[in-house]
Amino acid sequence: MQDIGLSFRIDEFYIRPLHRRRKFGRYAVEKVKEYCKSLHRHKIIIANVYVNNEPALKFWDSIGFKDTGRRERVKDLRLVEMEAEL
Ligand SMILES: CC(C)(COP(=O)(O)OP(=O)(O)OC[C@H]1O[C@@H](n2cnc3c(N)ncnc32)[C@H](O)[C@@H]1OP(=O)(O)O)[C@@H](O)C(=O)NCCC(=O)NCCS
Repeated sequence: MQDIGLSFRIDEFYIRPLHRRRKFGRYAVEKVKEYCKSLHRHKIIIANVYVNNEPALKFWDSIGFKDTGRRERVKDLRLVEMEAEL
């Protein structure tokens, strides 16, 4: 997680394959959100997801992150910006 000025951002979020679909990801994001909220610095947290990473898009969606419509290009791929309120 880093403070990027107007919001916080989660980068390089990864759960080991063996432990996936056991709610560890959801739990970890909840903890990061709680921590960010406790800092009282921003009201928004974002995560950037590669447009072709369907499982991750579903994951962020399932834990309440919404597509902001903003896109960033990294080489040949686009990143979908997802955000949630703290
Ligand atoms: C995306 C990732 C972090 C999810 O972590 P996780 O611990 O498996 O996720 P959770 O168990 O907390 O899942 C919560 C919900 O998200 C959704 N979800 C998670 N993985 C999913 C998948 N592969 N396909 C569809 N929905 C998925 C489901 O709704 C799930 O609830 P359910 O299992 O009751 O259906 C993990 O798959 C991962 O590390 N992927 C590789 C790295 C990556 O893509 N990181 C994200 C970069 S933006």
